[in-house]
Amino acid sequence: MPQYKVTQSPRLSGEVPVSTSKNAVLPILAAALLTPEEVLIHQVPSLTDVHHMMGILRACGAETATQGSTAVLRAVSVGSPHEHALLRTMRASVLVLGPILARTGSCELSMPGGCAIGQRPIDLHLKGLQKLGAKVEQDGGTVRVSGALKGANIYLDFPSVGATENLLMAAVLSKGVTRIENAAKEPEITDLCHFLTAMGARIAGAGTANLTVEGVEGLHGAAYTPIPDRIEAGTLACAAALTEGSVLLESARSDHMRALLFKLTESGLICQEDARGLRLRGKARHPMEARTLSYPGFPTDLQAPLMTVACQTHGLSVFLETIFENRYMHVIELRRLGAQIRVEGQLALIQGGKPLNGGHVTATDLRAAAALMLAGLIAQGETVVDDPAGHLLRGYEGLENKLRALGADAVRLVESP
Ligand code: UD1
Repeated sequence: MPQYKVTQSPRLSGEVPVSTSKNAVLPILAAALLTPEEVLIHQVPSLTDVHHMMGILRACGAETATQGSTAVLRAVSVGSPHEHALLRTMRASVLVLGPILARTGSCELSMPGGCAIGQRPIDLHLKGLQKLGAKVEQDGGTVRVSGALKGANIYLDFPSVGATENLLMAAVLSKGVTRIENAAKEPEITDLCHFLTAMGARIAGAGTANLTVEGVEGLHGAAYTPIPDRIEAGTLACAAALTEGSVLLESARSDHMRALLFKLTESGLICQEDARGLRLRGKARHPMEARTLSYPGFPTDLQAPLMTVACQTHGLSVFLETIFENRYMHVIELRRLGAQIRVEGQLALIQGGKPLNGGHVTATDLRAAAALMLAGLIAQGETVVDDPAGHLLRGYEGLENKLRALGADAVRLVESP
């Protein structure tokens, strides 16, 4: 079982590179299934979610190889993946539905798994595919979509990131024009649009809520470097905000991090963008209010890390989680360290400024794991984070190493034989 030890680290300083975005890489890997030609994805982060996605691509018939941090993919002929256990390890496995359907006319998939942060249905993905002309059949844990796709007008009831990505990937090979209204606007979607365009897709409106896709006969290979991870950068920014110091997050895209940086700046951190990335100085001192929203609103993936920051600022902070219904699982663990947090439905009230004490806590999901690592930076003594499901390895490329590079005392403990 992965286990981490973090010792109170009053000051972080130094420079650390930001890895490539997990949430950009996963759909981009899935999009490689849209062409029989070779695709090269550069600077792919070494994460278990990424390794699982490569496994799913192989289960779909693609050849995959890695050259350094470049993924080399070739999907000459593709079909439904039947690796049920693999599909259930990760929510993002649903992203192969659109590409395989568009490319072959049908796809059968075990319903995806992932973090236990909410129900996470895929109704919006399926409704959109139906609009494109697919027949959808569900049988227990399996979904089957089939049919020739034709451009259509799709309105998403909610700007789901995954549904927007799946529908984009289906639409690029559909006959005619597809319009997706109320599409998600996350930078990872814009990145997927840029990658698909590099493959020969015709997409207008990238980065807006209205995407227009003109279907093409086929796509060609491409080489692409996805964007830096705004969530990893945001987590490290929260770490900097906890411990008065001076940190450079190399190649962080602050234009993708406005909502978080606004919160941290209001709270007292000095955030400066320069040619090398994002510089952070000082410390968060004032309580804050944060409501999670779709991009460009405050990201749900940074709610847990920011809550750790709110634990140390003096006064009452108020958080509202509107995206996932079960995303306060870190609260009970933060309380074990002495945090004073009350949850009322979607609302969390954090009475900050009380010192935390090191202790033994358990990671319940990916971002909760990060929040607990950060709590270890300010808790007196040592904090041990058990991560029985290996959540941290799914989404952070050596978070403990990056914290250590900034002067923290954070290690992954050697697993006992
Ligand atoms: C993606 C991100 C995840 C992030 C989330 C919200 C990836 C791999 N993961 O997840 O890190 O936390 O966006 O920013 O990119 N919903 C439905 N029906 C659907 C689809 C979604 O009701 O068909 C609901 C979900 O249950 C959830 C909300 O919409 O409450 C947001 O989900 P969505 O935007 O789809 O998130 P993911 O793509 O799963």
